[in-house]
Amino acid sequence: MAEPVIRPRHDDDLPACVRTLAAVHRADGYPAAWPAEPERWLTPRELLGVWVAVDGSAVVGHVALTRTGPALAASVGHPEEQLGAVARLFVDVPARRGGLAATLLARAARAAAEDGRRPVLEVESGAAGAIALYERAGWRLVGTAPGDWLTTAGQPAVVHTYVGPV
Ligand SMILES: CC(C)(COP(=O)(O)OP(=O)(O)OC[C@H]1O[C@@H](n2cnc3c(N)ncnc32)[C@H](O)[C@@H]1OP(=O)(O)O)[C@@H](O)C(=O)NCCC(=O)NCCS
Repeated sequence: MAEPVIRPRHDDDLPACVRTLAAVHRADGYPAAWPAEPERWLTPRELLGVWVAVDGSAVVGHVALTRTGPALAASVGHPEEQLGAVARLFVDVPARRGGLAATLLARAARAAAEDGRRPVLEVESGAAGAIALYERAGWRLVGTAPGDWLTTAGQPAVVHTYVGPV
């Protein structure tokens, strides 16, 4: 079978992205609360770039790069304009452990570097698979703080901030 292709997301990919996100939400509770407008959630205003992994007509992976807000910039200790936040990273359950997320993460980090930005990200402390992925890829934990939402277990979220390798 052919390998999934990673390419920039097109607007007409959005329905397939939402279908995959719904499966990830059911399997992993990501995102913790299902968004009222999932296509909008996948398209934050601060978007710098967004990519999908496609296998035929199915979207099997997704990642975005966004501008950061002041709180994240303060916790990293760099000006906002020097940072790019990796966000909305997910891989469909049957497509996992084949290196797709690592490739999507590297794609977004490369785009950040090409734009003169250091890649950063935030991850909920219970997302063990994602944390293993980031640490394996050489990302460094720089801070931990309370999040402003509840996990699927109803507990206040704790958020780790990571900075990508140079
Ligand atoms: C986290 C996630 C994106 C990983 O996707 P993936 O395509 O399976 O990851 P990869 O195959 O690229 O993994 C690369 C490496 O990361 C680590 N890793 C990834 N998932 C892991 C898991 N569940 N447990 C332990 N290590 C894991 C491993 O070192 C893996 O290498 P290996 O398979 O050779 O051991 C996927 O599980 C997912 O979509 N989870 C739900 C959404 C989510 O948590 N997103 C992140 C929000 S911050």
